[in-house]
Amino acid sequence: MTKKSYEVRQSEKISHDIEGYLKEQEHKSFLRFITCGSVDDGKSTLIGRLLYDSKLIFEDQLAALENDSKKVGTQGGDIDFALLVDGLAAEREQGITIDVAYRFFSTDKRKFIVADTPGHEQYTRNMATGASYADVAVILIDARKGILTQTRRHSYIVDLLGIRHAVVAINKMDLVDYSEDIFNSIEKDYRKFAENLNFSSITCVPMSALKGDNIMESSTSMNWYHGPSLMSLLEEMDVAENKAEQPFSMPVQWVNRPDLDFRGFSGTVASGTIRAGDEIIALPSAKTSKVKSIATYDGNLDFASADQAVTLTLEDEIDISRGDVISEIGHRPEVTDQFQAHVIWMDNSPLLPGRPYLIKTANKTISGKVNELKYKVNVNSLEHEAGKTLELNEVGVCNFSLDDDIVFEAYVKNSALGAFVMIDKISNRTVAAGMIDFGLRRATNIHWQAVDVDKSARATQKHQKPVVLWFTGLSASGKSTIANLVEKKLFLRGNHTYLLDGDNVRHGLNKDLGFVDVDRVENIRRVGEVAKLMVDAGLIVMTAFISPFRAERRMVRDMMGDHEFIEIFVDTPLELCEQRDPKGLYKKARSGEIKNFTGFDSPYEAPEQADIHLFTANMSAEEAADAVVAKIEAQYLA
Ligand code: ADX
Repeated sequence: MTKKSYEVRQSEKISHDIEGYLKEQEHKSFLRFITCGSVDDGKSTLIGRLLYDSKLIFEDQLAALENDSKKVGTQGGDIDFALLVDGLAAEREQGITIDVAYRFFSTDKRKFIVADTPGHEQYTRNMATGASYADVAVILIDARKGILTQTRRHSYIVDLLGIRHAVVAINKMDLVDYSEDIFNSIEKDYRKFAENLNFSSITCVPMSALKGDNIMESSTSMNWYHGPSLMSLLEEMDVAENKAEQPFSMPVQWVNRPDLDFRGFSGTVASGTIRAGDEIIALPSAKTSKVKSIATYDGNLDFASADQAVTLTLEDEIDISRGDVISEIGHRPEVTDQFQAHVIWMDNSPLLPGRPYLIKTANKTISGKVNELKYKVNVNSLEHEAGKTLELNEVGVCNFSLDDDIVFEAYVKNSALGAFVMIDKISNRTVAAGMIDFGLRRATNIHWQAVDVDKSARATQKHQKPVVLWFTGLSASGKSTIANLVEKKLFLRGNHTYLLDGDNVRHGLNKDLGFVDVDRVENIRRVGEVAKLMVDAGLIVMTAFISPFRAERRMVRDMMGDHEFIEIFVDTPLELCEQRDPKGLYKKARSGEIKNFTGFDSPYEAPEQADIHLFTANMSAEEAADAVVAKIEAQYLA
């Protein structure tokens, strides 16, 4: 709709003064803003009003709108502006707006893009998406209700995402008799709350989106207010960030090599300005050179600034790959594989520290995990709270470690080089947005100690090939029994073995862990590390843990060398496990006496392709153990 109506408007103007129109458009600055508000604050009405009053609604839409308004009748025959904005029928029925909608409009002074985002609590993800593009946040407050949890949450998130200008639109003033006292008291409360945020400007405007008070024109109903209308404010606001004057940096998106004579590094300038002849440094290699040319699709440039997509060629042949960053010599970004970051969690399944996720920065995707959730931020009070995990919409500060180095800058300094998203490796869903605070240098002085007697020497001495036999299955499926029999058989053959068993390890090394998901992830991570050391010692290791999650079983597999991990699925139906119930735990789980019991109120993700699949309903433990030994005999035991 937006595009269409804009084009229509363009053609009208163009028809009578092409030159004048183009000039005018060219010189108008752009303002990108986001509107945030609770479901009933009147956000859609406000945006509808802005579009309507700037005459941007195409006529057939206007007709449809009038029809709809009559049908729905929330405004007694008047046009309901909210209907214009709440495009989808489903949204209308629910009375909430979902997903981000970008709308374009322009006035004589400025061009605008507004990201309209939902106010409903569940939709933080959409809000964060909208906010990452905006210069200004328009935060709506219902004058009758004052500051709500949502107001604080939205303010905190737009602040965290780096928006420096807040316009607090105190709406529905008509419903509080245009009371100056009410306006003043909300403004006072808001400014007090925002003392702990980083906004560089906060402007409060009393208005009624429905009646049009202080939207385009100053209202005659609030003579006590001497500030600008919302539209004049948005037209006049100075939000220039001067990204072009910051130090130069450009993440390399790809290396462009069409023939042997041309080698260019392509990307979008993240900050600063680059000129032909400038000295640069490439990171992480720290090799230096000079810019030979700045190529674009339309020919070479003398200089390029933030947000321009270019291809740089250099004087020297230095090795730069996709994922590296080219920057100004005196202001080089940092290189690290560990950092602290603020994280906004956006998924229904919670963050699990210790689980590997994909970490996707501007130009690189690598595996990494949260080592520690330092604290959660209560977005209402801004207080720090302890926690083991982050749930949907929660914000926390975490320490990360990655499998490889990244080149970064703190998000507050350079949002392009400081932002990342987290992606779940199995579902492929984007689960969080992150903003890097600073690099952690703690572990950089620890190197791998080279040892003379290595894994292969130890294995040769023992006449075996070290391996982990990873038994997974429900509680009472027979993992420990079968693993124990396998160990006995190997021991009798003269092999060197060790059995790590869930119940035993939980008495010692993992005494501090329970059965919530976060603890199970940490349980398996530690067991994986121990098993890895034992494999390094040359042993054949058996592990008997429920290990209910695919992600962690895969993580352990990835930690080991090739052919060092054999996943054995002890496949026993839940009913049979419950019948056996050697420890009486199923009985307790049924009666609700114990919580988070696997197979009941905690999931078991069966292996999709186990290396060995034991259907224990049809075989004895002895037969199962023989099957395992037979399977590994030739390759590992000789
Ligand atoms: S895992 O899920 O983290 O891999 P692990 O194998 O270490 O679990 O421990 C499972 C054993 O702990 C079970 O065999 C059972 O004896 C005991 N247990 C106690 N509470 C629970 C529970 N809520 N869920 C599963 N097992 C439990």
